[in-house]
Amino acid sequence: MGSEGGRGVALDSLSALAASRNGEKGRGSIDSRDIREQNRLSWNVAVGALDSHRGDLAGFLREGGTTLFPEERTLLGNLEGRRLAHLQCNSGGDSVSLALLGARVTGVDISDNAVAAARELSRKSGVPVAFERADLYDWLEDAGHRKRSFDVVFASYGVVCWLSDLAAWAEGISTVLAPGGRFVLVDFHPAADMFDAGWRRVKPYRCGGERQPLEEGVGDYVGESEGGLTPAGFAQGVRGFENPQPAHLSRWGLGEVITALARSGLRILAVEEYPYSNGERHFSGMRELPGRRMVPPEGMHSVPLMYGISAEKS
Ligand SMILES: C[S@@+](CC[C@H](N)C(=O)[O-])C[C@H]1O[C@@H](n2cnc3c(N)ncnc32)[C@H](O)[C@@H]1O
Repeated sequence: MGSEGGRGVALDSLSALAASRNGEKGRGSIDSRDIREQNRLSWNVAVGALDSHRGDLAGFLREGGTTLFPEERTLLGNLEGRRLAHLQCNSGGDSVSLALLGARVTGVDISDNAVAAARELSRKSGVPVAFERADLYDWLEDAGHRKRSFDVVFASYGVVCWLSDLAAWAEGISTVLAPGGRFVLVDFHPAADMFDAGWRRVKPYRCGGERQPLEEGVGDYVGESEGGLTPAGFAQGVRGFENPQPAHLSRWGLGEVITALARSGLRILAVEEYPYSNGERHFSGMRELPGRRMVPPEGMHSVPLMYGISAEKS
């Protein structure tokens, strides 16, 4: 598949590298870049399996369908005519959906195969979106140097865990936002990461950019969602997917995300916590409510499973 090449940097050596450079988390440091490069390889392998379940997404979007959920639409507000940078856009379903709301969208992702799929989706759906393949740290730096300017920056669902440097991310976003521009983030709640699949609280609240090896690499979460992430209909697609390319996550607490954004000069407008998860069934016994909203089993206390932030450039 694609350009993922060989097995890439071994996870053991990545962990050793990261450990030996503890505290050296700048985006220019060797460990962070090696980790992001390894993550690119892991995503490249996973994209084909993930997209194999999405059905006729292009046809669905062509007919006015959307992959967006109400939470991000509310936080984003009116997008008509807005210049929007969609960071970590993956295969572009949300990017095209944002363009259908009137935004002029630039999608950015590190994965070669995700960007190739996104371009194909834009072509097939007939909805113009510009896609740029880049490590978001390089992209933000370059966009800042070239004085590129956006009215909205958006990222969602499984994005913060891939950030090796929260401060550089927030500063880069603040730099490319035009005055009055808005950053919107919707992601899975870090508190939910303390549970195993059976809802047992077996893990600590990870934060501080703690590195978490994902030896099994990026998994087939679209297939595992059993339709939760496929509004165009669920296709059986690839079965029994295994990823030979490991990956590496970085864990950040909710307070750290908010603080990084505030320190970058953005004014926090809203922080929402949601006791449900859109699309993904991370835990056993989750019940599906209308709108592909997944909630814990009957009788269980509520747990924050997602959060949303909107922030404004003054
Ligand atoms: C879980 S997906 C995000 C889901 C996406 N919002 C969607 O609509 O499908 C995470 C994405 O982050 C991308 N990514 C990870 N590290 C990155 C980096 N350093 N720069 C740019 N993209 C990155 C991956 O390639 C992947 O497509």
